[in-house]
Amino acid sequence: MKRYARLTLALCLVVLTLQAQTPTFTPNYDEAKVGNYTLPDPLKMNDGTVVKTAQQWRKRRTELLELFAREVYGRTPTKKAAVSTQTTATEAKAVSGLATRREITLTILGKPLHLLLYTPNQAKGRVPVFLGLNFNGNHAIESDPTLTLAKSWLANTKDGGVVNHRATGKVRGHELARWPLAMILKRGYAVVTLHANDSFPDHKDGLAESFAPLLYRAGQTAPAADDWNALSVWAWSLSQVVDYLERDRAIDAKRIAVIGHSRMGKATLWAAAQDERFALVISNESGEGGAALARRNWGENVWRINTAFPHWFNGNFKKYSDDPNTLPTDQHELLALIAPRPLYVASAVEDQWADPRGEFLSAQAASAVYRLLGREGVAADAAMPDLHKPIMTTVGYHIRGGKHDVTDYDWEQYLKFADQQWRR
Ligand code: GCU
Repeated sequence: MKRYARLTLALCLVVLTLQAQTPTFTPNYDEAKVGNYTLPDPLKMNDGTVVKTAQQWRKRRTELLELFAREVYGRTPTKKAAVSTQTTATEAKAVSGLATRREITLTILGKPLHLLLYTPNQAKGRVPVFLGLNFNGNHAIESDPTLTLAKSWLANTKDGGVVNHRATGKVRGHELARWPLAMILKRGYAVVTLHANDSFPDHKDGLAESFAPLLYRAGQTAPAADDWNALSVWAWSLSQVVDYLERDRAIDAKRIAVIGHSRMGKATLWAAAQDERFALVISNESGEGGAALARRNWGENVWRINTAFPHWFNGNFKKYSDDPNTLPTDQHELLALIAPRPLYVASAVEDQWADPRGEFLSAQAASAVYRLLGREGVAADAAMPDLHKPIMTTVGYHIRGGKHDVTDYDWEQYLKFADQQWRR
């Protein structure tokens, strides 16, 4: 009997420990349970002063950048490292002859960032460009076997595409559908992409292999609570590409559109908030920690994202896991940091995890800053549009049918938006 009791106790302890290790999460998908929340006002300074002029907004902008850096994404080192640039391959007739494709390596502090750049062969003069991070490596953008396979860490896949965390030939073209190169090139735009994992391998111990330790302060050995993490490093890598594009004679560096899907959408928004050289910004289903409001309890929340992806945000952001209402910011203020530059936020109806309504409400709330700066945004009293009814003011928004993805429908809207904004 005594032995039986001990065994039961031991079993209970095992069950309890397992439960503690794998906490369950039930997302809310019921509007009645979203609860009340009050969004912080982007047009109110920390001391309560109301922002009424574009000049005051510049001061408020600095305050908000500081809050997002300190409490959410982490600070980006300002140190400029020397960069060496090398073109490793050129294909003059890529994408059925539509483009010249260049593989370019930027070596920063001894570590490479591999760019894949397509410029339309038909173009005369410098061309505007769409820049975006990819998830699976540059070889995933096309199925062309001559394209160099990415060497950075990738999550293993069961189909043999990634073995021992390295890509095999099987993953070529894996992201092809998300990058409709011919469609974009025919409209006269260049495309440049890079693998996010080149700058920060996307796993919880990725920091050690990222750029972060290379940019530690003198004597530093570990990240501080306000230091950068994956999203900030990815954002920084996008700015490194801008530094390069400013030197490339085929590119109009005043017309760089930056696009990001999902986690890359989060990094993209943060990149564009900090670096005003991104002239047009597209968030494709960036969800929690991206365009979606943190205070609105729908789908993924702060607790879940911090638990599943502890390496994305900084240490301080973990303080807000239990109650996003205590955050000093919300995500509409991240979007507002992009004003007055054109911004497009897109959702998909079957992507409730990313909270489409929260993404729309965020774009709408950010529009107050666009109006202050003399641009038209989403009207304060506008209802959320129906499926496939894009809004295209300086702030664009659409929700389409289907799942979490980047589709041709999304790209058609982005190309139209860029043409419209840049009067092409
Ligand atoms: C997960 C994560 C999201 C993220 C997405 C993605 O679903 O919870 O926050 O946006 O992955 O990057 O595809």
